[in-house]
Amino acid sequence: MKEFKRIGVLTSGGDAPGMNAAIRGVVRAAISSGVEVFGIMRGYSGLISGDIKPLAIRDVSNIINKGGTMLYSDRCPEMLTEEGKQKAIETCRKFGIDGIVTIGGDGTFRGATELTLRGLPCVGIPGTIDNDVSSTDNTIGYDTAMNTVIELIDKLRDTCESHARCNVVEVMGRDAGDIALHTAIASGATAVAIPEFDFNEDALFEKIINSRKLGKRNFIIIISEGLGSDYAPALAARIQTNTGIETKFARFAHIVRGGNPNLRDRVLATTMGAHAVDCLISGKSNIVICEKAGIITECDINYALKLDRMYKNKLQMGDLDEFTPEEIERMRAECAARRSYMDNLYELQIRLNL
Ligand code: F6P
Repeated sequence: MKEFKRIGVLTSGGDAPGMNAAIRGVVRAAISSGVEVFGIMRGYSGLISGDIKPLAIRDVSNIINKGGTMLYSDRCPEMLTEEGKQKAIETCRKFGIDGIVTIGGDGTFRGATELTLRGLPCVGIPGTIDNDVSSTDNTIGYDTAMNTVIELIDKLRDTCESHARCNVVEVMGRDAGDIALHTAIASGATAVAIPEFDFNEDALFEKIINSRKLGKRNFIIIISEGLGSDYAPALAARIQTNTGIETKFARFAHIVRGGNPNLRDRVLATTMGAHAVDCLISGKSNIVICEKAGIITECDINYALKLDRMYKNKLQMGDLDEFTPEEIERMRAECAARRSYMDNLYELQIRLNL
């Protein structure tokens, strides 16, 4: 079995609260196992350019509570080219890096699998506020981001109530409605629109008009950014026209990606960081660390990427060729469970917000 003397750690894609806690988990777990760690700056960009520095125990002190990522992050188009991938491998040779823990979303995992294929073992940790990695129940940063959203909505509701207005709020999540749906439930929003479900605008106008007649003053409508950047502001205008109620639009955008990670994300990040190191040095690679029903586990990166495509109805010809019938069946069951969870929550949201 390969002996690991030195591993790298990087954060890539959109940053997320808890990435620092994950870096700390990786560094401390590796050092406790006698393995050195090098921090790779700016994701795959730093790996390609050789922007790398050693990380000792004290280099990751006092970061568990900090938002952002001390290693910085980047989206790196060069990593999509063969030349970029070869440069990344060359950097690892030069620095004596035997394997890498990559923290990010699906783009990060695609990079990790490309490097593994070229002989450099990689393990992925899901770090994104979107919670759009279907193989794990929770991604690092998701819980904190949702708590930030409801804190902002609570503030918005105060002024919304004072002025008897409607507020349309757009939240991040890429093409996943997880943040929007959960924060709608948690903030008692009047309605939520996410890419996973059709949205009936006429029913919303009617609901607002009827509720206003019964004395309701504030209306909060949450929209997932996955519906397109024009949708939420245009909906706000349509609500005003169709109900006669003054309607304001707010886009929370990147603000919910910042801030200190909460307890849940710190624990998730720390346990995932340590698990990633244990997997890597025990010879497992091309895997993504997952949390399933509260247990930290792992699954093959290709499985995770194809599961995502299956869940989003984006499977391409040949995508499932590499999997056994049992694996495909398991993927279908996982997608069905995730959909049913979202279905139930969506129905509940409609049922309770009268
Ligand atoms: O993936 C995290 C995320 O914040 C998404 O919710 C959003 O669509 C995207 O990143 C924004 O990316 P950028 O930071 O490049 O604007």
